[in-house]
Amino acid sequence: MTDSHRIFATADIGESLNLLRQRGYEVEVYPQPEAPPKSLVIAKAKSGIVGLITTLRDQIDAEVFEAGKGTLKAVAQIAVGFDNINRADANRYKIPFTNTADVLTEATAEFAFFMMGALARKLWTAEHLTRNNDWGFWHPSLPFLGDEVTGKNVAIIGTGRIGQAMIRKCAGFDMNILCYSVGDLDHKYVNAIQEVNNLRHQLGIAAAKSWIKYTTFEDALGEADFVSLHVPLLKESEGPNPTYHLMNERTLRMMKPTGFLINTSRGPIVDELALSKALKENWIAGAALDVYEKEPLPSDSPLRDPAIEDRCRLYPHFASAGRVTRLSTDPAKGMAGRTVQGLLDILEQNYGGDITKMPYVVNKEAFSN
Ligand code: GLV
Repeated sequence: MTDSHRIFATADIGESLNLLRQRGYEVEVYPQPEAPPKSLVIAKAKSGIVGLITTLRDQIDAEVFEAGKGTLKAVAQIAVGFDNINRADANRYKIPFTNTADVLTEATAEFAFFMMGALARKLWTAEHLTRNNDWGFWHPSLPFLGDEVTGKNVAIIGTGRIGQAMIRKCAGFDMNILCYSVGDLDHKYVNAIQEVNNLRHQLGIAAAKSWIKYTTFEDALGEADFVSLHVPLLKESEGPNPTYHLMNERTLRMMKPTGFLINTSRGPIVDELALSKALKENWIAGAALDVYEKEPLPSDSPLRDPAIEDRCRLYPHFASAGRVTRLSTDPAKGMAGRTVQGLLDILEQNYGGDITKMPYVVNKEAFSN
């Protein structure tokens, strides 16, 4: 086996790796569940690997690309988000990288929906009541009540793939939908959802006619009972519409005091210090988070404050963690399968070797002259 067939994976992505092995690649997998130190990734890149399989925990930038100069041909990330990969550096070194969009869309959106429900209907508090043997009586309103999601207003911040999937799920619960996007507005999609709403009402399936519309960020926050975030993480240096700390003291105060925030996108989109203050001082009613500014969530995070425990649901970056979604070897179904296919497309010069035609490559712009 020559160096030109070696691949390093920073995490075990399961059976899909066998497909690489069957095709003659030598695959080395970092054996620990935690991410490898960056120095190890650099050392592997320097050792002549042709492919690097990464997770969102790995910082991939010029240091890694420089170490792999002349030998590293592709980086394949098992995630849809790729804010951990420095796109400008990848482009400078002309290294294509892939992601796993599409296959996790439904899983992520349904988890966002379930988080919203868990928060609104106080599932955690209610189960604790039962388990702690504090359920002393059935009473119309004691010890607490929750809020239905059916018929309420939800703001979908970001109407890309996952935002649109969340819209579909919310529409099924007769929610009114306020859409906001920093990028292109998909009026065709929004009109189609409205048509379905109209038909459900007309056929007597839905009692009220639900609505959906694009609106401003301010109005979306101000009118929503639930705000669900579905934007990529973009720092100030990464374009005209940065999303870093999109939810901060100023914007959290735009939400209703009865409003709930749901974040399945990326942690740094929410200023956690501001959020913990908002929860403590009741500027908003609650938040459910799956992603954090620092992951895993540090033990001293203000979000762990017992004073806000009843209204702050915390999950371990788990939204795409369905068995099929994470591990299916089928690139049309699983992140692992898609990661391997993306890598093979580049290494085996599929699509006539034209990187701009490879469906899973993110930074196509570096290859279109
Ligand atoms: C998960 O967060 C992903 O980006 O796939």
